[in-house]
Amino acid sequence: MTLTVQALGVSYGTVPALREASFTIGSGEVVALIGANGAGKSSLLKALMALVPHRADKLALGDADLRTRTTRERIARGFALSPEGRHVFPDLTVQENLDLGYLGRDTTEATQRADAMFDLFPRLAERRRQHAGTLSGGEQQMLAIARAMMAGPRFLMLDEPTLGLAPIVVQQIGQFISKVRTQGVSVLIAEQNAEMALSAADRAYVLENGSIVLSGTAADLLRDPAVKKAFLGL
Ligand SMILES: Nc1ncnc2c1ncn2[C@@H]1O[C@H](COP(=O)(O)OP(=O)(O)OP(=O)(O)O)[C@@H](O)[C@H]1O
Ligand SMILES: [Mg+2]
Repeated sequence: MTLTVQALGVSYGTVPALREASFTIGSGEVVALIGANGAGKSSLLKALMALVPHRADKLALGDADLRTRTTRERIARGFALSPEGRHVFPDLTVQENLDLGYLGRDTTEATQRADAMFDLFPRLAERRRQHAGTLSGGEQQMLAIARAMMAGPRFLMLDEPTLGLAPIVVQQIGQFISKVRTQGVSVLIAEQNAEMALSAADRAYVLENGSIVLSGTAADLLRDPAVKKAFLGL
């Protein structure tokens, strides 16, 4: 099912952070959202999760209008967010963090989902009884993603998943994205690391001062002179 968004806007008080953003994300599609600090990436993801007040002409998954839906209802429709800064619960173990991501009541299913995450991220399996606060930055990022996956999303949003991580971990996150998309999960990845995001994505949108200023296939944007200059240091 395609997520269709038209004229999505977010303001904090009178200050607009996102203006009239229009975009689509298809089933199993990986879409990158790139932009500098303060461009409005996190605001866009939070608006999709209904974590901030927002307005839109259209915000629909297939035919279902989600505009007035709460965070809880959007999660039930298959939305999940791995937030910027990870926000794992430091005093809980890896396993307990994962358990909190599962919103159903079926303990067998919860165990199956956690096992699937441990297959995807073997480092978490080795550390399942370790407190999340003692994990490395890369391990905490994997845990934040895995926790979001525990809800069984159809539409996964990752906010700056590679910030401050070593190239090997960045690569693992890229591999994770290519794996989940084969299961039909759509991924929206917000990144300042345009190189990583564009190499993982099919298509991308470039945000500048709260507006989408450029969009296209990831391959085209990688070749775009303005993108190269602004985001790829070329
Ligand atoms: N809770 C808030 N209250 C007031 N202003 C906010 C709030 N959250 C974000 N903003 C402002 O909205 C604008 C967009 O911020 P946002 O966090 O969406 O950008 P971003 O692209 O995610 O940036 P970064 O790459 O630094 O994470 C910024 O000018 C920011 O200061
Ligand atoms: Mg952000």
